[in-house]
Amino acid sequence: MPSAPPPLPSALPRHVAIIMDGNGRWAQQRRRPRMIGHRAGARAVNRTIDRCLELGIPALTLFAFSSENWGRPDDEVQALMKLFLHALDREVDELHRRGVRVRFIGERERFGASLVSRMQLAEQRTVDNTAMTLSIAASYGGRQDIARAARTLAQEVAAGRLLPEQIDEDLLGSHVALADIPAPDLFIRTGGDTRISNFLLWQLAYTELWFTDVLWPDFDTDQLQRALDTYAGRERRFGLTSAQIAALATETSSP
Ligand code: IPE
Ligand code: IPE
Ligand code: MG
Repeated sequence: MPSAPPPLPSALPRHVAIIMDGNGRWAQQRRRPRMIGHRAGARAVNRTIDRCLELGIPALTLFAFSSENWGRPDDEVQALMKLFLHALDREVDELHRRGVRVRFIGERERFGASLVSRMQLAEQRTVDNTAMTLSIAASYGGRQDIARAARTLAQEVAAGRLLPEQIDEDLLGSHVALADIPAPDLFIRTGGDTRISNFLLWQLAYTELWFTDVLWPDFDTDQLQRALDTYAGRERRFGLTSAQIAALATETSSP
């Protein structure tokens, strides 16, 4: 099967995905408990959402809590759950007012009932909003995401509704998280580590990656602009040659 054509080159990403890392170290540098860093991180989340809305970026996905983060000390996990709960109570009205559609990806059943119902409410309330799709990855793991998609397809095969030979990239890709929006164009990771940490493994196949040493609580509009500028200057080839990409660009820009 031929692979999908490369998306039209655009200076502004249609979808930005961020690993917001470095909250703990930010607090430790100040000799404060890690939780202070997570709180400062929540302020950086607001700044980033505001800026993406101003810029007209249609989709933003934030890695808030990984499936592996459950292994952190109990007191940190509990405090993070409290922070998520408060942030949802505090922010959803404003996000709704600004036309943001809020969604959660990940194994939400692992959260407590009060958090799960808050997530559902936020999703239901904002479902028709179109200014931006904000996806929060919580209890999310890329491997778990792919495994879950594979399980769904296996169930279809077992029920006789699908043939194994009908399973291809498009079908599997339509069962992973965020399948209804374009894959991320730009990935940002703060905190100085240059790894994916089990974020959107499938979805990041051709995403442009950008890393910064800046710790997440210090991430601001200047930092975001640096990432966007770097992105705008990248040549995305999707396996083709530079010449082919240049020819495609002229084709699509000619009347
Ligand atoms: C990211 O910051 C937030 C979560 C994983 C919840 P960290 O808590 O990982 O901060 P560092 O990496 O320890 O500094
Ligand atoms: C990735 O950060 C997960 C989130 C930001 C939510 P981690 O701090 O968990 O990643 P590692 O452990 O450095 O790979
Ligand atoms: Mg970290």
